[in-house]
Amino acid sequence: SLAGLAPKPPLGWNSWNKYGCDINEAKIKAATDAMVSSGMKDAGYEYVNIDDCWAELNRDANGKLVPHRTRFPGGIKALADYVHGKGLKLGIYTSAGSQTCAKTMPGALKHEQDDANSFASWGVDYLKYDNCNHDGTPAKQRYQAMGTALANSGRHIVYSICNWGEEDPWVFGPQVGGDLWRTTGDISDNWNSVLSLLDQQNGLEPFARQSGWNDPDMLEVGNGGMTTTEYRAHFSLWALLNAPLLAGNDLSAMSADTKAILTNRDIIAVDQDWGGSQGRLLRDLGNGTQVWGKPMSDGSVAIVLFNRNGATSSITTSAAEIGLGGSSSYRLKDLWSKAESTTSGSISASVPSHGAAMYIVRREGTLATPPAPGTYALG
Ligand code: DGJ
Repeated sequence: SLAGLAPKPPLGWNSWNKYGCDINEAKIKAATDAMVSSGMKDAGYEYVNIDDCWAELNRDANGKLVPHRTRFPGGIKALADYVHGKGLKLGIYTSAGSQTCAKTMPGALKHEQDDANSFASWGVDYLKYDNCNHDGTPAKQRYQAMGTALANSGRHIVYSICNWGEEDPWVFGPQVGGDLWRTTGDISDNWNSVLSLLDQQNGLEPFARQSGWNDPDMLEVGNGGMTTTEYRAHFSLWALLNAPLLAGNDLSAMSADTKAILTNRDIIAVDQDWGGSQGRLLRDLGNGTQVWGKPMSDGSVAIVLFNRNGATSSITTSAAEIGLGGSSSYRLKDLWSKAESTTSGSISASVPSHGAAMYIVRREGTLATPPAPGTYALG
């Protein structure tokens, strides 16, 4: 939004990855309740986002969107009140076209102000604006129309641009009031999808900023198609990229492993910290092993040692490689095991196949004058 409503990447949940079009009021309320009872709210999660398929196919006589009569009988306003009553925020969805992707409801193209006004009057806090069924009008123009409509709606609404990286949303997004923009097509719940989305972020790092996040799509953690090791890597890397962390699983039926991943506060803190650049690939060591790093605002560096190959591998980097040279010793915190240790500069881990080791590396020791945060740029 033009008001800069997402100074940190949004944290929350979205209905699409688990439920698709099979949504209703009860499922959204259950996700809201579980966000609180699971500890996710305490860990920082805030948005409960309804995706496609919440509305009737036809607008009313005044051209307004109508919540689906049987699946959302109480309407969106009552649902927003419910979510707000739990101390959380409600997100909604439509498309910059004549219909949404699932074609079960009208899109907002040429109805931008009417629909933004409806969202504002219902107490909606976040809009995901999809890209299906448009008429060929350039994306910047279509997304500008909704950005302006949101700004004139009388309510602060976070603006999530979802045009899959087409027509460079990282360039036009900030100009039309976008707080985040999808950089790719959709994630699916498998390892190759995670790798492919990850690799497509390469080069986009300079476009990320506060209230202007690159969005590599929502999380699949806990949806069953990957191993716990793979879900840990997915979560580690999305956090390193300052991605919005929108869980996409059934929050009311999480395994202990899934809950531990989604509520890993050290890793959430990496995601939420803006040290001047999103994380990036620092070195491909060959053999499917990689070193990723992200500067933190306090002068430390978050790193991920990532193993894409088929066997457990030892992965090594150094304080100098991650931009932290010049001291006699460094403190490491393993963000998964929580173990702390000290090194004179070499950082190594044995990483399982498809796994990610994640650390905060901090100078200690004999540096005379501590460097100012952001002094050491990565890459
Ligand atoms: C395409 C988007 O990229 C997805 O995230 C989801 O919103 C679907 N459309 C819904 O139809």
